[in-house]
Amino acid sequence: MKAAVGAARLGLGTVQLGTPYGVAGDPFPDLQAVRSILDRAARAGVRDLDTAPVYGESEARLGACAPERFRIVTKTPSLEALMHAGGVSGVRTSLEATLGRLGAERVHALLVHAPADLASEAGPALFAELARVKDEGLVQRIGVSARHPEELDLLLERYPLELVQLPLSLLDQRFLTGGQLARLAAAGVEVHARSIFLQGLLLMDPERVPAHLAPVAPRLRALRSATLERGSTPLAEALGFVRAQTGVDVVLCGVHSAAQLEGVLAAWQAAGPHLADARRFALDDLTLMDPARWAERGLPST
Ligand SMILES: NC(=O)c1ccc[n+]([C@@H]2O[C@H](COP(=O)([O-])OP(=O)(O)OC[C@H]3O[C@@H](n4cnc5c(N)ncnc54)[C@H](OP(=O)(O)O)[C@@H]3O)[C@@H](O)[C@H]2O)c1
Repeated sequence: MKAAVGAARLGLGTVQLGTPYGVAGDPFPDLQAVRSILDRAARAGVRDLDTAPVYGESEARLGACAPERFRIVTKTPSLEALMHAGGVSGVRTSLEATLGRLGAERVHALLVHAPADLASEAGPALFAELARVKDEGLVQRIGVSARHPEELDLLLERYPLELVQLPLSLLDQRFLTGGQLARLAAAGVEVHARSIFLQGLLLMDPERVPAHLAPVAPRLRALRSATLERGSTPLAEALGFVRAQTGVDVVLCGVHSAAQLEGVLAAWQAAGPHLADARRFALDDLTLMDPARWAERGLPST
């Protein structure tokens, strides 16, 4: 059954828990801090975690922190890495290594990490490997981590995707305005929204935005004054906006610390109706919206 409007669950992204990451360049927490974050998240009812083999120590750390409390989504290695290691059958080898690190017999979902891999000539063979590990009961759902709406349109034509992770935020509304969220909801596909703070950029003091991303600062100032008028905060509005979208099942947040998680939990509990006219905050420049393209503006890519 597809979730009703506004019935989204709060989930945790875990790249920040396993490797240095983010626009602010914060160090990543040690194992004890990760344990505190996950314990607190579990007590608050968070069940959904996102990870990947390429997130540094993320999977191993989850494995050390009672992962059976959570519904875990992980991802495939890149097609390039698979080919280098002998072919797409490496999907199974990689998943077995993930399960070993997690100390688990299965995970909730396995996603193709790079959507271009699935769109490529090798896509059908790659997807067949995902279907095989699903048939074997190692994962419950298979799908893709999407980056661009047009690419997802193509993949939905070609593959019976069961779970799609996609970027969605006040600053990046492409999957909403492009109609993909509505299409996924109609098809009953589970949707996990990520990058809802755009790696923390959306929550930054506009005066501290790195020079390369300077065109975002006026949007952040406008957001701050709109939230002040409402007695709200950018954090609450960023969460409320994504949570309110029909078709979103899980709202994934990344946190670097227990303090950040407390902020997220408080804002999640307090979330009311979101900002009117949220469209005005949307960017239209991909080199600002897509962190993988920030390198083109002079920042390290992720
Ligand atoms: N292609 C993919 O599959 C893909 C790509 C990207 C991410 N992901 C997944 O999505 C997850 C989320 O990552 P994201 O890049 O999308 O990050 P995000 O959730 O948009 O932003 C997370 C960042 O926001 C800041 N933040 C969080 N709570 C805060 C609070 N209470 N107060 C102030 N700042 C706060 C922190 O950054 P600072 O501490 O740096 O300020 C934190 O690292 C990742 O962990 C990963 O699992 C997947």
